[in-house]
Amino acid sequence: MPDQTFKAMIVEETEPKKFTRRIGERKIGDLPEGDLLIRVHYSSLNYKDALSATGNKGVTRNFPHTPGIDAAGEVVECGSKKFIPGDQVLVTGYDLGMNTAGGFGQYIRIPCDWAVKLPSGLSLRESMIIGTAGFTAGLSVLKLEQAGVRSCDGEILVTGATGGVGSIAVSILAKQGYKVVAVTGKASAADYLKELGASEVIAREAVLEGAERPMMKERWGGAVDVVGGDMLAAVLKSTRHGGAVTCCGLVGSPELPMNVFPFILRGVSLLGIDSVQCPREPRLTVWDKLAGPWKPEHLEETAGECTLEGLEEKIQAILKGEIKGRTVVNLQD
Ligand SMILES: NC(=O)c1ccc[n+]([C@@H]2O[C@H](COP(=O)([O-])OP(=O)(O)OC[C@H]3O[C@@H](n4cnc5c(N)ncnc54)[C@H](OP(=O)(O)O)[C@@H]3O)[C@@H](O)[C@H]2O)c1
Repeated sequence: MPDQTFKAMIVEETEPKKFTRRIGERKIGDLPEGDLLIRVHYSSLNYKDALSATGNKGVTRNFPHTPGIDAAGEVVECGSKKFIPGDQVLVTGYDLGMNTAGGFGQYIRIPCDWAVKLPSGLSLRESMIIGTAGFTAGLSVLKLEQAGVRSCDGEILVTGATGGVGSIAVSILAKQGYKVVAVTGKASAADYLKELGASEVIAREAVLEGAERPMMKERWGGAVDVVGGDMLAAVLKSTRHGGAVTCCGLVGSPELPMNVFPFILRGVSLLGIDSVQCPREPRLTVWDKLAGPWKPEHLEETAGECTLEGLEEKIQAILKGEIKGRTVVNLQD
């Protein structure tokens, strides 16, 4: 078994700050230590994977490396009683795909605690259409609800709406009866977003209009933001009294050019979302909801599929903000 080889993406630092990617063979014996060996059937592409694959040391310090922060497959060996061979499991977050060889390889070895038993109601493929992006969308909705945001509180804004987190957030919120306004930079994606459940689709500029002022007219009952920067600042300034805004991403900017007025004059809450170290209890709650009442109606419509060989093109597209929905990676021979 240790000498058994499998196919994986291998990212190498050929000279300082110069990275190459190829699909090659790795050995099971070279995988990191851990008590759970999984044969990966599906993974998915997230923005963070593209950063890891292009040598971003904020995500991955050591190369050669196999990215892939998501994986779903079958247990091959388990060193504890938690799982038995043949169990179907999914893994998102922790160190997978960062400095632990990830789901862009046909096998992973991880600590048992990172794995979640596949909830009934989801196939392995569906769990990876959802993946870290969908889990993050689910965690964002959970946090909004825990902060008291309700569908009767007015419109909910979703930024980066055609992206992985955004598209699934639109679907979940619409399914729960929220009136969802989707922000996108892709004018051609309006029909797609309406099919997912958005009641209105607006351009990024519409959110930013008037954002130079200390406060803006109240509009949003709550929001899911993946963009950060000026967009997040504008969203906070236009959130209604008592509303809440989740922050998970930085595709626009990691900065937050803000004042304190929305917090002290309107009681607006800014809710941080971390899907990586999310504790087990909310993790299981979100996955159960995603397999049940929150399961997006149009899951298949949000997904494209590629093989390991097809990943390169998708990595380039996600880095340019050109991906629509989710990309599942099929690792079966
Ligand atoms: N905190 C966590 O645990 C966590 C988990 C998952 C993801 N994330 C982060 O969340 C963010 C989104 O992830 P994702 O997987 O959804 O990425 P994605 O699929 O690439 O989607 C991001 C979307 O944001 C919009 N966008 C891109 N560049 C923009 C810009 N400069 N200004 C405004 N909008 C822009 C685009 O949508 P439109 O064209 O429709 O506007 C794009 O499709 C990333 O920063 C990611 O690292 C964080």
